[in-house]
Amino acid sequence: MPLIVLPITPSDIRSVYDVYFSAFEGNVMLEILFPMAFIDGKITEEFRAGHATHQLEYLKSTPLEHTLKCVDTDTNEIVGMAVYGVYFKERQYDEYKSPSGCEWLEGQERKRCEKLLVPLWKKKEELLEGRPHVYCQVLAVDPKHQKRGIGALLMQWGIDVAEKLKVPIYLESTLAAVRLYEKMGFDRVKGSVVQKPEITGLDHDIEVPLFYKMPKSNPNFDFGHLKDKGYTHRTETRTRVMV
Ligand SMILES: CC(C)(COP(=O)(O)OP(=O)(O)OC[C@H]1O[C@@H](n2cnc3c(N)ncnc32)[C@H](O)[C@@H]1OP(=O)(O)O)[C@@H](O)C(=O)NCCC(=O)NCCS
Repeated sequence: MPLIVLPITPSDIRSVYDVYFSAFEGNVMLEILFPMAFIDGKITEEFRAGHATHQLEYLKSTPLEHTLKCVDTDTNEIVGMAVYGVYFKERQYDEYKSPSGCEWLEGQERKRCEKLLVPLWKKKEELLEGRPHVYCQVLAVDPKHQKRGIGALLMQWGIDVAEKLKVPIYLESTLAAVRLYEKMGFDRVKGSVVQKPEITGLDHDIEVPLFYKMPKSNPNFDFGHLKDKGYTHRTETRTRVMV
């Protein structure tokens, strides 16, 4: 029986984020994003419930963000999830500017999280500005169901939407996902963001590869080529994107 990608309904929120937390278990980013979630290295029930409630509220305020589930129709189980921003119109600075910080945290925890996220936010802002694009914010597959093509299926949803809109698709990758994006025809933005041991607490740098894919339907626009030239000006780029 097929795997199918569908938009989530409110009743899916907890299962969808259980998949997310399982997929990212052991990833240092999760502990930096949600230090309050863990007791003895495990995410507590209390945190999961609070997080689900918060996500549901958040969804109401972000009509351009779409949370998807991948369902195994043999078992009805949610086996993967993705979150996409679909920005089909040009946006003004107020609409695309980065968040003011990691407002869900305080003190040193907030500072640490911002050191991790702000360079990623700024890079995206600098590369894409208010130009129409699709942004894959999260992609996660339940570890029990990885290597069945679920990641590719969820990714294809975003690629198809970007193709229909004739806009680029952009994402920040983990090292685990690099092969998937390369196989699916993504190109790497020149220069990745590097997270240093003083932020992560690890003994090595973590590279965050940044990927984009231009729509086949708009071959005149080569984002990587323009970036190599240090070209980011929005007005000129917009005329190419909208051709
Ligand atoms: C990265 C991630 C989303 C990939 O999900 P996935 O469902 O395993 O991805 P796919 O199954 O589509 O592809 C993964 C591999 O399985 C292979 N595969 C796909 N279908 C298969 C099948 N039926 N049988 C065997 N292998 C298969 C693919 O060819 C691919 O092989 P490769 O690793 O040699 O390139 C998943 O590992 C994950 O959630 N990781 C943790 C979170 C994360 O890093 N997310 C990315 C954030 S940017």
